[in-house]
Amino acid sequence: MAQSTESWGSRVGLILAMAGNAVGLGNFLRFPVQAVQNGGGAFIIPYLVCFLIMGIPLLFIEWSSGRYGGKTGNHSTPYILDTMAKGRVWKYIGVFGIFTNIAVVSYYCYIESWTMSYVYHSLVGTFNGLSQGEVAGFFNTYVTIGESTTGIPYEAVIFYIICLAINTFILSKGLGGIEKVAKIGMPLLILFGAILAIRGLSLGTSGASDVFPDANAWDGINFLWTPQFDSLTNPKVWLAAAGQIFFTLSVGMGTIHCYAAYLKSKDDVALNSVSAGFMNEFVEVVLGSAVVIPIAAGYLGLDWVMKNAGFGMAFQTMPYLFQQWGTVLAALAGLFWFGLLFFAGITSSLAMGTPWMGFMRDEFDWGRNKAAWSFGGLALLMGLPTVFFYNQGVFDEYDYWAGTVSLVVFALLETIVFSWIFGIDKGWREINEGADIKIPNIYKFIIKYITPTLLLIVFLGALFTPLNNDWSGNLHALFTGNGWTLDNSSIINQLAFTGLNQEIAAATDAVTLEKLNDKKFFISFARFMLLGLFLFISSIVYLAFLKRRKEGRATL
Ligand code: PHE
Repeated sequence: MAQSTESWGSRVGLILAMAGNAVGLGNFLRFPVQAVQNGGGAFIIPYLVCFLIMGIPLLFIEWSSGRYGGKTGNHSTPYILDTMAKGRVWKYIGVFGIFTNIAVVSYYCYIESWTMSYVYHSLVGTFNGLSQGEVAGFFNTYVTIGESTTGIPYEAVIFYIICLAINTFILSKGLGGIEKVAKIGMPLLILFGAILAIRGLSLGTSGASDVFPDANAWDGINFLWTPQFDSLTNPKVWLAAAGQIFFTLSVGMGTIHCYAAYLKSKDDVALNSVSAGFMNEFVEVVLGSAVVIPIAAGYLGLDWVMKNAGFGMAFQTMPYLFQQWGTVLAALAGLFWFGLLFFAGITSSLAMGTPWMGFMRDEFDWGRNKAAWSFGGLALLMGLPTVFFYNQGVFDEYDYWAGTVSLVVFALLETIVFSWIFGIDKGWREINEGADIKIPNIYKFIIKYITPTLLLIVFLGALFTPLNNDWSGNLHALFTGNGWTLDNSSIINQLAFTGLNQEIAAATDAVTLEKLNDKKFFISFARFMLLGLFLFISSIVYLAFLKRRKEGRATL
């Protein structure tokens, strides 16, 4: 085994790298959309509760598991879990901690590459004088491979490959490279975010036009920050809040374990993990809600925002709104906004490269370059279909299975391993070893009982989501013998293509039918790729096991 002596350069570097890992596109693109779609202020309370009783416990679990694995030279979840629990199977659960990263990074880098391209287009003035529809159209053309508005053929593919190559290159420089990017990227991101937020907050009604005379930036802020207590009984809002907490904190992925495995054995995890977590929340809740929503509400009105909330807003609408500030400021705002997104993205995508690299280095003595470029190659192979078939739904399919479902599954399993198999007493000792703060004892109870229970509820809720999210109606039906009707958004119906099959059955003309069948084909193809990746990584874990056994190092 390559006895890696690599570790983080400094505490500031570590916290910035961990915060950079967590602060990502999710903070600026996903959070505002989730918040708006789930009722604004109605979302915030469940969100904060999930942070406290699911997010923080998972941070403790992942940081301490990672540091624990690192002590015996294991930097990736398969063998981190293997050192924590007796039995052959645990390392295959750890496959998630490599699989998810490669699957997510392959489409995540695609968004990251848009941000690069949009910085370029903002600076050269591509959006100058375009109408709102034209700016939105630019995006649609951009992601339709083969068409081009800028004259650069295959622009999206080229930017994607450049973006992945930059990531791979930095990864080949090791932790030092990641630390450097975090030290430059995070402060710049906060600076850019603060400038845009001040602009957003000071916009007031000054952006209102004849078409949207009632537009007011403050409507956006108020909508997000006026608590609504009746949402506390709506499971849909809770599921969305839990999902956002996972994604934004990067838990359930395996990246935190890997970063933490490079801690020294006496390094603190208690304070560091909470600091990085709170930094993420600051960026998400303060900056993430002070840019897109108020600026869009200030020009187009809250109604427009609620109708159009979606992740396209950042790319389809923002460049147009920046135009209202004049050519120079528009270029600057474009640079700040897309630059911010780029830094948010790259500090996260770098993190996603590390579990694969750590594994190949630990188990097969691969050098840094080989580990990095093989990661780049895998990500490219997985990612090109998301680029070429973006409009056909491959991207969304990856995001659903790898970026949403897998996180919950892995978080649930690792929490069970930590609290019940490794054992909460040992686990609690690990969390507190070298701790610079005293964690309230209640967290021991939370980690043992509350977090796994909540995770189970979230998972079951997603698996069996009832029709129209009507929990009380369906429960009533269940107990009165009328059964449970699944919603098409439930994991089970998604898996069975239920919604799509219904659409296919209802299609009346040949064109629609062909489109839907195409969609089914591409979704199946995406699933095939994901499954293939999972099996591929499982077989590498098996090979590593055989190698260890031959060398007499296998635990079983
Ligand atoms: N937390 C990142 C975000 O908010 C996404 C991410 C998930 C990054 C998992 C790394 C690992 O965008």
